[in-house]
Amino acid sequence: MTLWGGRFSTKLNDQAWDLNTSLPVDKRMALQDVDGSRAWADAIHKAGILSDKEYASISLGLVTIKEEFSSGRFNFAPSDEDIHTAVERRLTELIGDAAGKLHAGRSRNDQVATDFRLWMLQTIPEVVSAFRLLQNAIVEQAETAGKIIMPGYTHLQRAQPILLAHWWLSHYWSLQRDVERLHDLIKRVSVLPLGSGALAGVPFEIDRVALAQALGFADVSQNSLDAVSDRDFAAEYLFCAAMSGVHLSKLAEQIVLCTSAEFGFFELSDAFSTGSSLMPQKKNPDVFELTRGKAGTLLGLLTGLLATLKGLPSTYDKDLQEDKAPVFQATDTLLAILPVLAGALRTITVKPEKMRNAIDPTMMATDLADYLVNKGVPFREAHALAGKAVRAAGEGKVSLEKMPLEAYQAISPAFEADVYQVFDPMKSVEKRDAIGGTSLQSVKNQIKKIKGV
Ligand code: ARG
Repeated sequence: MTLWGGRFSTKLNDQAWDLNTSLPVDKRMALQDVDGSRAWADAIHKAGILSDKEYASISLGLVTIKEEFSSGRFNFAPSDEDIHTAVERRLTELIGDAAGKLHAGRSRNDQVATDFRLWMLQTIPEVVSAFRLLQNAIVEQAETAGKIIMPGYTHLQRAQPILLAHWWLSHYWSLQRDVERLHDLIKRVSVLPLGSGALAGVPFEIDRVALAQALGFADVSQNSLDAVSDRDFAAEYLFCAAMSGVHLSKLAEQIVLCTSAEFGFFELSDAFSTGSSLMPQKKNPDVFELTRGKAGTLLGLLTGLLATLKGLPSTYDKDLQEDKAPVFQATDTLLAILPVLAGALRTITVKPEKMRNAIDPTMMATDLADYLVNKGVPFREAHALAGKAVRAAGEGKVSLEKMPLEAYQAISPAFEADVYQVFDPMKSVEKRDAIGGTSLQSVKNQIKKIKGV
């Protein structure tokens, strides 16, 4: 049974049916479809379209259907074109002809948009919890990192010493923006399209505000034409997912690099690494490589939906049926990646000596310039003098911290015997104490802010 047979003389071609059906995708919104239908039954009952008896019978039937879905006992029929058809077909089996009254004033156009938004309102908090899990693992690592220092990089070249904790927390903050973006999105998802009909609105006395409240929406759509076609919320969600993908990929890339023998800053736990079928010695960071790889897929899901939306005229077009698969896939991807990353980071072994040994005195060249600034030398000049010191050390094949004082003073008399204290990387770290810097206190403050204490 389709919901639209009346004006057709033959049934739909089998292959066209397969192309047209959306059940394999939209059955994931079964519970939301039933909830939407229950609220709709209530609204049209109040509008006088359903008698008390019909309303009671439809409500009871929908409760049964919800139980069937929840317990996995719902049987789909080959004729179910989509989840909406499946629910109505089953309702007819359960209560008879009264089921045919439920669709009064409603179209699958406003129905599907409502189901989809409901599904997202329920799913976003789940995704946020998964982000929280990863953020917690990162904060735990930052707290245990204490005073461990590591080289900080720009252009992937050694730049300045930083606290390992500061590095961990840098990833916390990007994920925090991802979480905030998801929270911000809820406002735009939480707008009820139901009561827009196919495109022009509903001809019965429906209290859409009450309907929105019953379904947990914060607001109702103000224009029926816009309401049945608006998929901004899906595109925005995919942007959130893609942006998170970029953040997770950046983290993953650094872990891949830092677990290589060349860096050796971290070692993955066996539970979160994989082997090679050929090379017995290999311990591969597949989990992080997959994260990096799936970020590409997440970007594709966003651009795919935007491209679908771009050519559409106003109101509902069947192209819009392509909206759900990418949102479901993005959700599944994030829910697959995030807990695994949390586990992998929680169990990673840090190698503080490797990190410390990778800090060479040239990384304190900026501190050398700052030393001169503190002696009154203008920064531009100080920068040039510190650069000369780096060159002189290189030419003399001596490290900056071992270069004799005379060599420094030949460059500038502003260099004095206390210059050597500059080469303590912890001092360099501790000097960067303004909000957002890498000092121990600044990192403590970040953690305080994160924990809200
Ligand atoms: N399966 C459709 C979708 O996901 C439901 C809406 C169908 N509307 C219609 N007029 N055929 O978009």
